[in-house]
Amino acid sequence: MAIRVMAPANIAFVKYWGRADHDLFLPTNSSISMTVSGCSTTAFVTFPTDAKSDKIIKRSISGLVTVLSQEDRKSRALYAQIQRIRNLSGQKGFVTVDATNNFLSDAGLASSASSFCAITGALLIAFGLRGIFDDKKEFSRYVRLAGSGSAVRSVYGGFVEWHKGHSCNTSVAEQLADEHHWRLVDLIAIVQTEKKKHSSSFGHEVAKTSPFFEQRVSLVSDRVVGVRQSILNKDFTQLGELIESDSDCMHQVMRTSNPSLNYWNDGTHKVMQKVFALRNKGVEAYYTIDAGANVHVLCQTNDMLSVHRALKQLDVVSSVVVNGPAQGAKIVT
Ligand code: DP6
Repeated sequence: MAIRVMAPANIAFVKYWGRADHDLFLPTNSSISMTVSGCSTTAFVTFPTDAKSDKIIKRSISGLVTVLSQEDRKSRALYAQIQRIRNLSGQKGFVTVDATNNFLSDAGLASSASSFCAITGALLIAFGLRGIFDDKKEFSRYVRLAGSGSAVRSVYGGFVEWHKGHSCNTSVAEQLADEHHWRLVDLIAIVQTEKKKHSSSFGHEVAKTSPFFEQRVSLVSDRVVGVRQSILNKDFTQLGELIESDSDCMHQVMRTSNPSLNYWNDGTHKVMQKVFALRNKGVEAYYTIDAGANVHVLCQTNDMLSVHRALKQLDVVSSVVVNGPAQGAKIVT
């Protein structure tokens, strides 16, 4: 039986937005995230004897089954990853990769992070490169080359920093603290289930056209230090203020790039207003939004029920996904 690899998604506290090198997927800035428990991808690899080419099959929670095209830019990097790992192993034979998401795809919930990480992990195992899979720094380096930056952070559990580095070798992820360190809660208020209008890849390409891009890059190094400290000291107020400003700052860059990228909808605004209202009432909650309309609301365990209830009551929210910090990519049976 094929060995399965499960990789969780992650929510960025300091966002990766913009690349220094598009071919090598090197980011312009370092980023920090929490690996989440409620959204994951499970992938496995088979070697069909009659196969004439490699094949990647993606299954979504809605039952949709897609065979990724070798022509599509993003999938091309994933097919090149199969070739890279096969060459490294010295083996031959075409593979079929089967990857299933347990959550919404392409709605800004980091489905590429979990799927690219799970697929790379499953390939390493299938081609007998267990040593790389177990050496997490090395694994994170390989994941990046599959074509999704944020996926490198899903290798580790808990709280993770992706050092931007300046080359293939130095751009790697590192764990700041494991999943037991701090029981933070991330409630995702779903206000949009359709595919987002613009891919993150496209956003990274046009980010530099924003007049605010350089300003964000220069502010972000201090934010990385602050978020790292707040995680290690479990200072929720400091963390919340920093993640909200980094999310606002990234969306300002998105809106002012050419073309302008506006991922939010009415529901996004209503959830943000609810977060402000909760804070005015003394309930500590903070939002952060990736490249999509759905809103991640962070709180501590003692406030989880009241924040969950408040979000569910909004007519714009179709469901709420509950996440805690999770273990990183792992082999499952
Ligand atoms: C807004 O990792 O999806 O979620 O490298 O092109 O795959 P690619 O982009 P991706 O970008 C993530 C952008 C973000 C912020 C983040 O997760 O850091």
